[in-house]
Amino acid sequence: MSQVTELSHPVVQHHLAALRDVKTTSVEFRNLINRLTLLLACEATRDLQLQEATVQTPLTSMTAARLSQRIGLVPILRAGIGMVDSCLQLIPSAEVWHLGLYRDEETAQPVRYYNKIPGDAPVEVAFVVDPMLATGGSAAAALETLAAWGVPDIRLLSIIAAPEGIEQLQSQFPEVPIYVCVVDECLNEQKFIVPGLGDAGDRIFNTQRSD
Ligand code: PRP
Repeated sequence: MSQVTELSHPVVQHHLAALRDVKTTSVEFRNLINRLTLLLACEATRDLQLQEATVQTPLTSMTAARLSQRIGLVPILRAGIGMVDSCLQLIPSAEVWHLGLYRDEETAQPVRYYNKIPGDAPVEVAFVVDPMLATGGSAAAALETLAAWGVPDIRLLSIIAAPEGIEQLQSQFPEVPIYVCVVDECLNEQKFIVPGLGDAGDRIFNTQRSD
């Protein structure tokens, strides 16, 4: 069974309140996603491997430590793009591999539309980022792609998740740890997370439609 880490930090809860608020503008929504992603990424990178490195300080030479693995960020388009900058703030040398997936509005099934991941030389650790984990279909499709690439250590970061999506991933990918800011109550009939925050992609990119 994959490990699920739900952040219980008061600062996370504070920013989640604003993120959920229907009155929050796209500008502020993007800022909130950045802040929450930073907190999530700190947690999800806790156990990354280090190698010793000699550093000359202004005073002396010392043995320090640097990250030793090839790290990939894998945003699921579109909404995952909103989480990339914060992750790159933490790990500027990470590679970014985009995956295009959208959820069909009728069937709620993931549809793949972009993938330039090569067939060889997989990264050593991949962080899949997508603000929303609803049915888990999109995340599962991304995890399948990374498993096929041969990535040995895959982790999933989402701002908000439904229990149904977590359950689905746990049964399909028991070895993939899941990091979320919050697990919400459930999915509604349209497979939207409730109480949720609406459509993260539309709110990040200011493409909400009122009809
Ligand atoms: C949303 C979200 C996830 C997916 C979650 O994307 O960002 O990718 O749906 O749903 P699932 O767990 O049931 O697959 P959407 O399809 O709305 O595309 P977008 O990011 O382009 O808005």
